[in-house]
Amino acid sequence: MGKEDQKENEKIMKYRKTILITGGAGFIGSHVVRRFVKNYPYYLIVNADKLTYAGNLENLADVEENKNYKFEKTDIVDKKAVEKLFRKYSFAGIIHLAAESHVDRSITGPDEFVFTNIIGTVNLLNAARNGWHDNLDGKLFYHISTDEVFGSLGSEGMFTEETAYDPKSPYSASKASSDHMVRAYNHTYRIPAVISNCSNNYGPNQFPEKLIPLAINNIKNNKPVPVYGKGENIRDWLYVEDHASAIDKIFHRGKPGETYNIGGNNEWKNIDLIKLLCKIMDRKLGRKPGDSEKLITYVKDRPGHDLRYAIDSSKLQKEMGWKPIPEFEEGLEKTVDWYLANVKWLENVISGDYVKYYDSMYSGR
Ligand code: NAD
Ligand code: TYD
Repeated sequence: MGKEDQKENEKIMKYRKTILITGGAGFIGSHVVRRFVKNYPYYLIVNADKLTYAGNLENLADVEENKNYKFEKTDIVDKKAVEKLFRKYSFAGIIHLAAESHVDRSITGPDEFVFTNIIGTVNLLNAARNGWHDNLDGKLFYHISTDEVFGSLGSEGMFTEETAYDPKSPYSASKASSDHMVRAYNHTYRIPAVISNCSNNYGPNQFPEKLIPLAINNIKNNKPVPVYGKGENIRDWLYVEDHASAIDKIFHRGKPGETYNIGGNNEWKNIDLIKLLCKIMDRKLGRKPGDSEKLITYVKDRPGHDLRYAIDSSKLQKEMGWKPIPEFEEGLEKTVDWYLANVKWLENVISGDYVKYYDSMYSGR
């Protein structure tokens, strides 16, 4: 070990625990990283992210100088890079969020979803297994998943932890596959692992290809707001910080081998949600009531579009006292305010300039 490596090693050893968060430069990951860096100064938080189109280090500008935060540009599909990372840090905990996450992209190009979501997860599981051997005390592999693995509901019922998997899109099939691998490693090799399946998130820092930020941006710019099909599909929306607080609870109190559903108990038909957003935007932008609604444009439906998702999160609520905080309208308003206030962030994302942020902050490091 060289002198520099030794110094680095001493720094790492100072912390009570070293935790790997994958996909920390993305939408949900950045909220999780911020929460852990700020709330747990005695943890060293290592954010490993490939920085795909969805990874944006500007999301973490406010914590990047914190001593207990480290960024490692890593592709989880690269087995050797993952092994090297584990050798460097000896992680005690892993919160795995890195994924290709957009259903529409999975329909036009499924391969990347197979590589990152399935192979990438297996690479992390193998590295944990090799690194931990039989020394499993205090270790945890926490896999972040989605309610989409359960497939589509009719007008009745909710997904529980016991609902059988029935994924319908290449995205959800790749996430279901990774969930199965995590369970298999828990069962076969006794890797201490938990999984949570969460409903649709919304809030600051979401890439504007997803419904809510896309609609906010288009309404702001007087562009058509595309509604797939008849807008009858239903999603259960959760504010991103509520997801981060659930992840915090599950990471600290979840039982290995268990699964936890996370959801907002907040079902909205797409068209009703867009109309509510239009109403808020009219008010914020000083437009005449009804002006923004004129931008709603019905477009061809997504192939195989899941009709309805609804999550029963009573297990998490009962076992850990978790509950979502803002009312939906309040959360939506906070989200609109954030996008209207962070014009530069949005411009950088849309123009692709956010990539330069990494170069200016990290090249040569
Ligand atoms: P996102 O697309 O905003 O971010 C994904 C992050 O993963 C990006 O920073 C990207 O650079 C990184 N990444 C992608 N491929 C990688 C690779 N090969 N190696 C390393 N990093 C890579 O996604 P998100 O919406 O923040 O979702 C995060 C996780 O939460 C995903 O696992 C997703 O399935 C899950 N989830 C999302 C939602 C939602 O509504 N967004 C709901 C439930 C679960
Ligand atoms: P999305 O944000 O892509 O999340 P997911 O597909 O993972 O649920 O889409 C949310 C819902 O909004 C989904 O039913 C598809 C629909 N949708 C539109 O109607 N128009 C759009 O432009 C987008 C991106 C989504």
